[in-house]
Amino acid sequence: MASKKIVVLGTGGTIAGLAPDPGQAGAGDLPYRAAQLVVDRLLADIPAFKGLPLLAEQVAQVDSKDMGPAVWQALAARCAHWLGDDDIQGLVITHGTDTLEETAYFLHRVLAPAKPVVVTCAMRPADALAPDGPQNLVDAVAVARSEGAQGVIAVCAGQVHGAAEVAKVHPYRLDAFSSGDAGPIAWVEEGQLRRLRSWPVAADGRVGLLAAAVARHPPTAWPRVEIVFNHAGADGLIVDALVGAGVRGLVAAGTGNGTLSQALEAALLRARESGVEVVRSTRCALGQVVPHLGDLIVAAPGLSPVKARVALLLDLLARSP
Ligand code: SIN
Repeated sequence: MASKKIVVLGTGGTIAGLAPDPGQAGAGDLPYRAAQLVVDRLLADIPAFKGLPLLAEQVAQVDSKDMGPAVWQALAARCAHWLGDDDIQGLVITHGTDTLEETAYFLHRVLAPAKPVVVTCAMRPADALAPDGPQNLVDAVAVARSEGAQGVIAVCAGQVHGAAEVAKVHPYRLDAFSSGDAGPIAWVEEGQLRRLRSWPVAADGRVGLLAAAVARHPPTAWPRVEIVFNHAGADGLIVDALVGAGVRGLVAAGTGNGTLSQALEAALLRARESGVEVVRSTRCALGQVVPHLGDLIVAAPGLSPVKARVALLLDLLARSP
């Protein structure tokens, strides 16, 4: 029997980037442009892919700092399409590193796939002296072809991370991602998977509801959800300004255990009084907010501020008419 196919969906990023002068690629002032090469091109010269049943499709071509609702909606639709095809074993998505964790978490919540959806990337552009993209792609395809692999995962620098935990933690190193306290799900070593814990499952009975809401609402009409930081001197002025501008949800990236200055907390409670949905996270890189009886603002369970923002966005979208 012919082996099932892997679909590689391109969205841009440094993995598809080019430098005007390859010798300079990745130097201090980043003299390269992300999202230049089409996904077919990224796959074409990789010897390990010769003879493998790979299909490529370009969904977007963006630097992921510009990622947003329009690409997310299109990506969710193309993933759902391919995941529903019995001939497809899994998907690989090429993506920029900067917002990879947000896209991965978004897809985790709206797809909760029983097949692997592997998001991969590169820290160096495709024409760098020693690009990391080809190896990451080879590893990502190996994971997508692994027996039993499932869920939305990120593969970078030989590590396999779950969508709920993965975060970019370094602006320059090739192993720029971490799963924090949880650690990676697996390592990819010479194409073999050394698994440490189970594949991700979106523990949410609302997958169908969220997917329908994402498909139904035009991206320009998605509710505005913003992140506000607690910091020395945070006085809540920004919260009042955002409420005035029509924000629908706010994530407070609190200090330590999600704590807020008195003035910021008061502003957030005022915002909630006026109908804005408010949750708390922590600006700490590791750990998560431990909720206490009597907390005035609910903590987003185990989510970083950017992922709490995605979760709140999806909640609001699902409740929008
Ligand atoms: C991007 O996120 O698209 C640019 C940066 C990168 O991919 O490393």
